[in-house]
Amino acid sequence: MELNNTAALVTGGAHGIGRALCRALHAAGARVAVADLDFASARGVAAEIDGLALKVDVANEQEIIDVVNRTEAEFGPVSLFVSNAGVACGDGPNGAASAPDEHWRTCLDVNLMAHVYAARVMIPRMKTRGGGCLVNVASAAGLLCQIGEAAYTASKHAAVAFAESLAITHGDDGIQVCLVCPQAVATRMTGFDDDGQAEGETGFGGNDVDGIVSSDYVADCILDGIREQRFLVLPHPEVTTYFQRKAADHDRWVAGMQRFRRRMFGEDA
Ligand SMILES: NC(=O)c1ccc[n+]([C@@H]2O[C@H](COP(=O)([O-])OP(=O)(O)OC[C@H]3O[C@@H](n4cnc5c(N)ncnc54)[C@H](O)[C@@H]3O)[C@@H](O)[C@H]2O)c1
Repeated sequence: MELNNTAALVTGGAHGIGRALCRALHAAGARVAVADLDFASARGVAAEIDGLALKVDVANEQEIIDVVNRTEAEFGPVSLFVSNAGVACGDGPNGAASAPDEHWRTCLDVNLMAHVYAARVMIPRMKTRGGGCLVNVASAAGLLCQIGEAAYTASKHAAVAFAESLAITHGDDGIQVCLVCPQAVATRMTGFDDDGQAEGETGFGGNDVDGIVSSDYVADCILDGIREQRFLVLPHPEVTTYFQRKAADHDRWVAGMQRFRRRMFGEDA
C-alpha cells in the first residue's frame, strides 16, 4: 500500500509503539490521526507531526466510530487503521485464574473488542472504496504465552484469531490485514519511560529473553509489513521457531514453559 498522502488513524498513538508508528507514518508522507485515552499526550504527538489529536476509549464502540468520522472529515477516507492501544493487568497473587473479572474484561475489551469495533466501522467503508489496510497489534503472547499474564495472553490469542478471520474473510474485498506480534519492546508497558530509559526490573513475564527492541524498530517493521503486504509481522524472528516448536509438539512445549516459569521464579530444584 502507498503511504504517501494516506489518511491513517492510530489508536494508542500517544506513547510507545503507537507514537513511534505515528512518527514513522508521518515521515512516510501519511496524514495521521493520533487517538488515545491520554489526550494531553496525543496532542503533543500530533503537534510534532502536524497530525490530528483525538481522545478515544477504544473499549467503547461509539467512540471508535466518532474518531473515524472526525478523521475522515479532516483528512478524507481512512485507508489505514492501526488498532494498537493495549493493556496488561497481571495475574494477581494466586496464579493464572486469580485476576479479578474487572481485569479480564479490561484486557478483552481493549486488546480484542477494540479490534472488532474498528473492523465493524472500517470494513464496509473500505469495501466501498476498493480496499484498505487494518493493522492489528497483538503480541508474541498471542502465539505463545506471557507467563504471569493469563488475561493478557488469552486476549492476545483471541486478537490473533480475529485477525486471521478478518484476513481470510476480507482478503478478496481488497482489505489487507497486518498482524503484529512482538516480544519485549522498550515502552511503559515493560517499565521503560517514553524516552526508552530503563526504570528497573519489571518482571514482565520473561519475554525479554531475546532482547528488548525499540518502538522505532517495531514501527519500521510494521511499515515494511504494510508495504510488502505481509499478514504476520514478527519483530523478533525467534518467535517463528518457538511457534513451530509449539505446533510440532504442544505437550513438550508446555513442559518447556513450565521449566521456564520455575527458572523465572527461582523455583528450580
Ligand atoms: N511493550 C511490549 O513489550 C509489547 C510487546 C508485545 C505487544 N505489545 C503491544 O503493543 C501495543 C502498544 O503497547 P506499548 O508497549 O506501546 O505500551 P504503552 O503503554 O506505551 O502504550 C499503550 C497506549 O495505549 C493507550 N491506551 C490504553 N488503553 C486505552 C484505551 N482504552 N483507549 C485508548 N487508548 C488506550 C495508552 O494511553 C498508551 O498511549 C499494545 O497492544 C501491547 O499489548 C507491547
